[in-house]
Amino acid sequence: MNKLPPCHLAPADSIHIEQAASILKAGGLVAFPTETVYGLGADATNDQAVAKIFETKQRPAFNPLIIHIKNIEQAFEFAEFNDLSNQLTTAFWPGALTLVLRRKKGSKLSLLATAGLDTVAVRMPNHPVAQSLLAAANVPIAAPSANLSGTISPTQAGHVDGQFSGSLTLNMVLDGGPCTVGLESTIVDISGKIPTLLRPGGLAKEDIEAVIGPLAINASEDIIAPGQLKSHYAPSIPLRMNVKADEVKPGESLLAFGANAPTKALNLATTANLIEAAANLFAMMRTLDTPGSAGIAVMPIPNEGLGVAINDRLKRASATK
Ligand code: TXA
Ligand code: MG
Repeated sequence: MNKLPPCHLAPADSIHIEQAASILKAGGLVAFPTETVYGLGADATNDQAVAKIFETKQRPAFNPLIIHIKNIEQAFEFAEFNDLSNQLTTAFWPGALTLVLRRKKGSKLSLLATAGLDTVAVRMPNHPVAQSLLAAANVPIAAPSANLSGTISPTQAGHVDGQFSGSLTLNMVLDGGPCTVGLESTIVDISGKIPTLLRPGGLAKEDIEAVIGPLAINASEDIIAPGQLKSHYAPSIPLRMNVKADEVKPGESLLAFGANAPTKALNLATTANLIEAAANLFAMMRTLDTPGSAGIAVMPIPNEGLGVAINDRLKRASATK
């Protein structure tokens, strides 16, 4: 493929997955569905392709990327696995868990993809389209969430196409329908002595602790996971958390949760199911993020299980830029 096509939406059938794999191998970018959020993928062994990710996302270049793999053998080439990682991969891969591991020296992995760190974040996604694409491309795929830096992560192909339509650096958006988890993966750093939770996400901390025992929590927000910027998940209008249904200010839109809410409000989960709320979160924030609105008022979300990750996202979305 000499000339790469401008950004366009394509159904995730076998013909387009093959085309997407050719684009990746030719150094282009493809947005693809995973069970968590859509990723903006490049061949992780191609620095120039990886550089295009930063350009396309307008992302600070020091942010390292997650490397997606088709199977563990593919990761042996560039990452050091140990007893702990083996327990975690057996329990949770493929799935919404990203592991930060020591990076192997001398591998073909782009240095830019890991932003010069001696660690690497690795994930095996549990989505048939992501898996087919990884198999067809036969290279590890570096992919951040497929959104402009500082905006909400995309959980539908249309979200990606809406931001990048006509882009010359992103060449294709594979439409695999809405993401079922709807929150980014949980990131656990096991490259050091103490396993540490760097980012709460689609896999609950409790589930991980049931397998390997207590996780430390990363207190220093900026150094270990540089992508965890305070204003990372921000809509363009103000967002307030823990607002009861009768406390909404004039002009604000309510993002409801649970049964005790006005029926006409958008509701993350009328049944108060946190998995359903997580899957709806970004799409609903987007829907309410309109210039005509004074802000988004979000009802209280219980701080347990996936609620921790939802509240983490909401806190970032409510931080002033
Ligand atoms: O669910 C997900 O994780 C999605 C899908 C596409 O896989 N990806 C995603 O990527 O959310 P991104 O780039 O938006 O977030 C990756 C996070 C960033 O906060 C980054 O700083 C952190 O992972 N990260 C990557 N490599 C790291 C490393 N070696 N050490 C610590 N943090 C790392
Ligand atoms: Mg992101």
